[in-house]
Amino acid sequence: MKVIICDSAEAMSKTAANIFADRIRSKPNLVLGLATGSTPLGMYAELVRLHREEDLDFSKVRTFNLDEYVGLPPDHEQSYRHFMNRHLFDHLNIDPANTHVPDGLARDLDGCCAAYEAAIQAAGGIDLQVLGIGTNGHIAFNEPGSPFDSRTRVVDLTESTIQDNSRFFKRIEDVPTRALSMGIGTIMEAREIVLLATKDNKAEAIARTLEGPVTEAVPASILQRHPNVTFVLDQAAASRLKRSQ
Ligand code: PGA
Repeated sequence: MKVIICDSAEAMSKTAANIFADRIRSKPNLVLGLATGSTPLGMYAELVRLHREEDLDFSKVRTFNLDEYVGLPPDHEQSYRHFMNRHLFDHLNIDPANTHVPDGLARDLDGCCAAYEAAIQAAGGIDLQVLGIGTNGHIAFNEPGSPFDSRTRVVDLTESTIQDNSRFFKRIEDVPTRALSMGIGTIMEAREIVLLATKDNKAEAIARTLEGPVTEAVPASILQRHPNVTFVLDQAAASRLKRSQ
């Protein structure tokens, strides 16, 4: 495990984007695992800048997003497909057909999850996965208690995640209560993982993830067993780590 503690959220975003840019330059048809949420936004903006100003080429890159709400159409403002188009894909020379987000409107949700796993396999597996982390230690929508060997599936969101996400919706009743999410087993198969966290509300989850026991009660703690994971943090998110003191 590698831990990089940056002076600011901006520095975190640039550091993470540089890792991504480096891997894309060495393997132009890289398979990326992507995340939504507020934390990777700065990294996505920096990747867009690198594309525009430094010719970072996404024409062969393939992407798989971690998750999607059940019930939101792709053009819904809060759907993760919409988020990705707006913040990243629309600004790159990426082929839309190479970008994958689970289909939250699929009639057969279980079949859609199985097909998603098969598509990741057919692409050769994920080379580089970016992750955020929830205040409860979740990764993607794998909430505490999710089995470490879980695969892409339909999940119920916990009350704390619904609360965390309610800031994006007009009313809390509008927040979807189910999602399609890659499983922890799926995520752990990525060849390289970069987890991003900023702000002090993530400090406890980061300390438990890095320095606590590996337990399904803290889904991200499994990353201690991943052979190639880098945590890119700002100082606030790293503030409860014993090792940083
Ligand atoms: P955030 O969400 O980046 O908006 O904090 C991260 C997560 O819940 O996984």
